[in-house]
Amino acid sequence: MKVTTLISQEEISNKVNELALIISNDYAEKELLVVGILKGSFVFMADLIRNLSIPCRCDFVKLSSYGKETVSSGEVKMDLDISSRVEGENVLVVEDIVDTGLTLSKLKEILASRQPASLRVCAFLDKSSRRKVPVEIDYRGFEIPDKFVVGYGLDCDEQFRYLPYVGIIEEDS
Ligand code: PRP
Repeated sequence: MKVTTLISQEEISNKVNELALIISNDYAEKELLVVGILKGSFVFMADLIRNLSIPCRCDFVKLSSYGKETVSSGEVKMDLDISSRVEGENVLVVEDIVDTGLTLSKLKEILASRQPASLRVCAFLDKSSRRKVPVEIDYRGFEIPDKFVVGYGLDCDEQFRYLPYVGIIEEDS
């Protein structure tokens, strides 16, 4: 299996700085609760929060979907919930990649029912050509083609999350 670079470490770093600046401005003088979706978002979230110029609190959820690669329901369930109180909080959900949109849409529905003061989404990668349900992304890193990508938190069978860049997997011929 070969991995070719799609987004370099430098491009990622520039984008994270850019997003962090916008988010810091938008949430200036506000309390911010950053909620990462495990596992994929942990690398992006770690870089993003360290580039914010405002304080924030961090929490994590884990969601899994059934029948993702098949034609079945695509039902999403929550495996791990945040421990933080959401009511009245400014919540920023951090996602590594939005594909069908099912994961994010389910999480937004769950968090919205807990009456946050605000609820926004920051997604590192957007594979919008694969969308099955519409979902708004407030802060977007990169739009990417419909290719299997790994690195910077994203895996292929739990491999490659550690790569500091985003690459495309290519089968050896
Ligand atoms: C990936 C990714 C998103 C989700 C996006 O998670 O991290 O959370 O899929 O897909 P969707 O838009 O089609 O719902 P995955 O289930 O691979 O788990 P992981 O983050 O632990 O790798």
